[in-house]
Amino acid sequence: MVSRIRIALDGPAGSGKSTVAKGVAHKLNYIYIDTGAMYRAVTLKALENNIPVDDAEMLTRMMEDTEIVLRYERHGNESVMHVFLDGRDVSEAIRGLEVTANVSPVAAVAGVRQALVSMQRKMAEQGGVVMDGRDIGTVVLPQAELKVFLTASVAERGRRRWLELREKQMEVDLAEIIAQIEKRDDYDSHREVDPLRQADDAILVDTTEMSKEEVIDYIVKLALERGARIEPSSVDA
Ligand code: DC
Repeated sequence: MVSRIRIALDGPAGSGKSTVAKGVAHKLNYIYIDTGAMYRAVTLKALENNIPVDDAEMLTRMMEDTEIVLRYERHGNESVMHVFLDGRDVSEAIRGLEVTANVSPVAAVAGVRQALVSMQRKMAEQGGVVMDGRDIGTVVLPQAELKVFLTASVAERGRRRWLELREKQMEVDLAEIIAQIEKRDDYDSHREVDPLRQADDAILVDTTEMSKEEVIDYIVKLALERGARIEPSSVDA
C-alpha cells in the first residue's frame, strides 16, 4: 500500500473544498493543489488580453504559451499557495468578481481543460497530494486512493461565500451570491466536457451541518485508513 496517497476532493462552488483541502494537506504534510485557481488564472489572462471567454479556438491557442506554476511559501506554521501566471504572481487577482463571473465558460473549453489536466497529472505524480476541483476523481486522477465529494445546501454555500467576501471588506448581497453560485453550478454540471460529477467510488460528505474541523478530521481518518502516513517533512515544493 502506498503511503503518499492521492486525495481527490470534488464538489460544487462554496462546498468548502479549498478550506478542507488545505486543512487535510496541513495535517498530513501533503501538498495542496487548487485546480480552480488554475482555471481562474487562464480566465484572468483571457480577460486581460480581450479574448472572448467563449472563443474556444482562441483560448485553446492561448494555452500553447501559457505557464501556470503553483508555489508554496511558509508563513509560520502555514504553507501558503501562490499562483504564478507567466511568471507573475496573480494569487489575489484571480479571486476578483470579474474572474469569478467569467471562469465557467473558460473552464468549459476542451482545449483549456486538456492543457490544465495534463499539468495537474504531472503535479500529482509523486503522490502526497490533496487536489481539489470538479473533475479530479473522474478525469484527472481516476486512480486516486481516496475520493471525496463534498456538498452542502445552496443556502449554506451562499452564506459561506458571503462571509468570506465580507471578511475581505467586500459588500455583497447574499441573494446575489446564491444566484451566482446556482448559475455556476448549473453551468459546471451541464457542460459537455468533464462536467462536475461525483465519481462512482467517491465518498459523499454533506457539510451543511458540519464544522470545517469535523470535515477535515473525517477526511484525514479516511486517508489514514487508505494507507496515508503523516509525512514528517515540510510541504514546500
Ligand atoms: O473552485 P473554484 O471556484 O475556484 O473554481 C473556479 C471554476 O473553475 C469553477 O466554476 C469550475 C472550474 N473548475 C473546473 O471546471 N474544473 C476544476 N478541476 C476546477 C475548477
